Amino acid sequence: MPLKVLLIGNSDGIGAAVTTALIARGDRVVGISRSPSPLGPNGPKHVVQDISSSEYPKALARVVSEEGPFDACIFCAAIGSGLKLPDLSQEAHVVEVNFTSMIRTFAALLPAWEDGSRGHFIGLSSLADDFYNAAAPSYTASKAGFSNYLVSMALKLKSHGVHVTNIRFGFVDTKLPKASWKPLMMTSEQAAAHVIRCLNTKPMQLSVPKVLGLVLHGIRWLQSLRVWTS
Ligand SMILES: NC(=O)c1ccc[n+]([C@@H]2O[C@H](COP(=O)([O-])OP(=O)(O)OC[C@H]3O[C@@H](n4cnc5c(N)ncnc54)[C@H](OP(=O)(O)O)[C@@H]3O)[C@@H](O)[C@H]2O)c1
Repeated sequence: MPLKVLLIGNSDGIGAAVTTALIARGDRVVGISRSPSPLGPNGPKHVVQDISSSEYPKALARVVSEEGPFDACIFCAAIGSGLKLPDLSQEAHVVEVNFTSMIRTFAALLPAWEDGSRGHFIGLSSLADDFYNAAAPSYTASKAGFSNYLVSMALKLKSHGVHVTNIRFGFVDTKLPKASWKPLMMTSEQAAAHVIRCLNTKPMQLSVPKVLGLVLHGIRWLQSLRVWTS
């Protein structure tokens, strides 16, 4: 049975690849991002909207009432910002886009889902959520909050019939990652295949690639040791 899926941040990168994969399956997609859909006017329904703007909740409520109810929402939007001291002017904005807007999106969808004991919220997080990152603290802090929030919601909502999945990716070949070394990098199509698998199997969390997750966890342990002994 085809699904109706709301995709936040699908004009580029992993979100665009997920859109293509869902359409190929015969699902119906409604997308939101600041740019128009790369698939053009013959592509899926697309709303041009900045999710960090004060207009977002109203625009989202309109999308949900006109196009809903949705079977699932996949939140793919994010930005990164390298720290350039002493300017912290972009830091709060990164958290607003990556984390707060995700909660605003969830809030707009949950009432209908909880009433009907249905719905699946998938959020794209990062293996960097388990890591202190002095080069881009707002990105990793936003992802730490994102992952913690979604897994907490997965535990809370399971008995209500609403599924929540937190996907923690390593490096994916899009414009977002700025590191000079990107080990075990996936293509956005490979990342999209993981997202589609989660849409079918509904785990609370998926971390890929697992080996990179373990390596980062080890680095985090060494970072913690340095912090404890400072
Ligand atoms: N690529 C990686 O290595 C990697 C690794 C781990 C996790 N992730 C996560 O995977 C997700 C997708 O990342 P990606 O690599 O596909 O990034 P991307 O290629 O930069 O795409 C980001 C998407 O978010 C949208 N977006 C950004 N700011 C927005 C705003 N204010 N309002 C509405 N839409 C906005 C962008 O569209 P517009 O610019 O048109 O608005 C674009 O469609 C993110 O959550 C990211 O943290 C990525």
